[in-house]
Amino acid sequence: MRRYTCITLFPDLIASFGDTGIVRRARVAGLIELATVNPRTFADDARGTVDDAPYGGGPGMVMMARPLRLAIAAARARQPGPSHVVYLSPQGTPLTEATLPQLAQHEHLVLLCGRYEGIDERVVDADVDSEWSIGDFVLSGGEVPAMAVIDALTRRLEGALGDERSAVEDSFANGLLDHPHYTRPEIIDGMPVPPVLMSGNHAAIARWRRQQALGRTWRRRPDLLAQLELTAADRTLLEEYRAGAQNDSHDADNQAKIDGSNR
Ligand SMILES: C[S@@+](CC[C@H](N)C(=O)[O-])C[C@H]1O[C@@H](n2cnc3c(N)ncnc32)[C@H](O)[C@@H]1O
Repeated sequence: MRRYTCITLFPDLIASFGDTGIVRRARVAGLIELATVNPRTFADDARGTVDDAPYGGGPGMVMMARPLRLAIAAARARQPGPSHVVYLSPQGTPLTEATLPQLAQHEHLVLLCGRYEGIDERVVDADVDSEWSIGDFVLSGGEVPAMAVIDALTRRLEGALGDERSAVEDSFANGLLDHPHYTRPEIIDGMPVPPVLMSGNHAAIARWRRQQALGRTWRRRPDLLAQLELTAADRTLLEEYRAGAQNDSHDADNQAKIDGSNR
């Protein structure tokens, strides 16, 4: 079983996340356990103060070391085995499908969610094992990043998804973006489902999906494509896609949505 303990000033946020969707299902199935520790419990005063002004001056407040360190100790004590303490921080290692497995190897993750200007650096020095970022932007707190870590790791656990094939076909799983998806009805405002998907020809459907995944990655994320060694069959599919893409207005329209030319 994978165990997560979030150190957070907002335990309700994590509790409601743990009661939703795939994470809830994994919890109920006994695949994961999710708990919280609130540093306010360890504050020195009756008001539950956990932040103070920064040394050296400047704006904002800093989360104090003592309540955080006691919260980390309490989180560690929840499990008999070793714990890995993660500080969610915009300055951490970028979280990607490639770096995520590093976190998957730990049975108990303690996820430290900062607030305000961040936490006293000495907590990082003394108690944190690794720092992770969910992207080059700044959020108000580490709870959303902690939920992103838990969600992404839980999807990878055997038995967590309804159908294991979903994760295998997702974007990044094989270095490519996912192919487009369609469901009923067959026509929406004059837009039909691509005929091949209605053909019942499984080989043709698989070929089309692979070609779409290659084509989309070429259009949207050439950086990902550059890292792959394509087979001869993939190269042929991509060449066909590129030849047809010049006349494909659906693809060109959607391209404008991601490169910002229609903003
Ligand atoms: C307002 S931020 C503090 C940002 C900090 N002053 C800095 O510039 O590096 C408050 C907290 O949100 C969390 N956080 C914000 N952005 C994040 C990101 N991109 N990835 C992970 N955690 C983030 C961290 O826990 C951080 O301590």
